[in-house]
Amino acid sequence: MLSFTDCSKLIDEALQKLNLPAEPKGLYEPVDYILQLGGKRLRPSLALLAAALYTDDYEQAMPAALAVEIFHNFTLIHDDIMDKADVRRGKATVHKKWDDNAAILSGDAAMILSYETLNKLPDAKFLNAFKVFNRTAMEVCEGQQYDMDFENRLDVDLNEYLGMIRLKTSVLLAASMQMGAIAAGAPEQDQLALYELGESLGMAFQLQDDYLDVFSDSEKFGKATGGDILNNKKTYLLIKALESGEKTSVNELKMWIEKKEFDPKEKVEAVKAIYKKLGVGEDAQLAAISFVNNSIEILNQLVVPNERKKTLEALIFKMMYRET
Ligand code: IPE
Ligand code: IPE
Ligand code: MG
Ligand code: MG
Ligand code: MG
Repeated sequence: MLSFTDCSKLIDEALQKLNLPAEPKGLYEPVDYILQLGGKRLRPSLALLAAALYTDDYEQAMPAALAVEIFHNFTLIHDDIMDKADVRRGKATVHKKWDDNAAILSGDAAMILSYETLNKLPDAKFLNAFKVFNRTAMEVCEGQQYDMDFENRLDVDLNEYLGMIRLKTSVLLAASMQMGAIAAGAPEQDQLALYELGESLGMAFQLQDDYLDVFSDSEKFGKATGGDILNNKKTYLLIKALESGEKTSVNELKMWIEKKEFDPKEKVEAVKAIYKKLGVGEDAQLAAISFVNNSIEILNQLVVPNERKKTLEALIFKMMYRET
């Protein structure tokens, strides 16, 4: 049976064979750098695992798998500029190691490379996958815009938040699974069910990401903790806290959000203490669990041999306990 570890290994190997042009170095080195930094390879693994539900020749889905991983890495390069993040996967972000201009242009190149990779699918499958990919790519941009817009608002509610994370994060996990199914020639109904499964999983994934941004061990997480707090990101934790009705905590939070000059460490510690007091980290994890359960339900309903579902099932459950 194909395991998650097998998948990430296959992806790493395939990425190493991409053979990017050597020149101009300033364009291609950052692309190579971020792709070789590792990461969990979750999205491409979902594409391969979706395909493996239907065929032993799951490598048919490799062009789709590589496309979603390269696209994901493109979004990370630009996201780190937008979020002023210095560390990714335990190393310097592209805009820190090079500069903003290099990160903008090499991000663009990575996005183009993702489309070129997808084009290795046979024509009929490519056309179907391409439609899903394009729609998804635009939705991710929409989600990223909402994420930034929300930084400057105090009245973002949980529904708006859920809509925003669906766009910035979930649809790419969803599309990865649908495109894997398309590549494997799965029935259309199953392609759509797998999209839904991935969408729900993506919601759980981003909720846990918000949780880890505050409460993780930054060494393990590979990103600086507290980044969302410093950017006034409207995460599930912050929205729940603002909606808690606990006057003292809410006023203190608002004071930190509005403060223009502060010691970053002090702000992160103060907000974290409020989150702890209100238990909003646990709220976020509870919300994640309900999305995980929904993914499992969709998986259970798929008409494929149970044996083939095992790796996906384990991966879905793992989402709630991940620390990286
Ligand atoms: C980070 O994604 C961006 C989010 C949507 C939270 P991952 O946590 O999958 O990042 P890598 O690829 O494993 O580094
Ligand atoms: C990332 O959300 C979503 C995309 C990159 C599209 P975050 O900004 O929370 O991701 P991290 O935490 O930087 O990985
Ligand atoms: Mg972001
Ligand atoms: Mg970010
Ligand atoms: Mg995050």
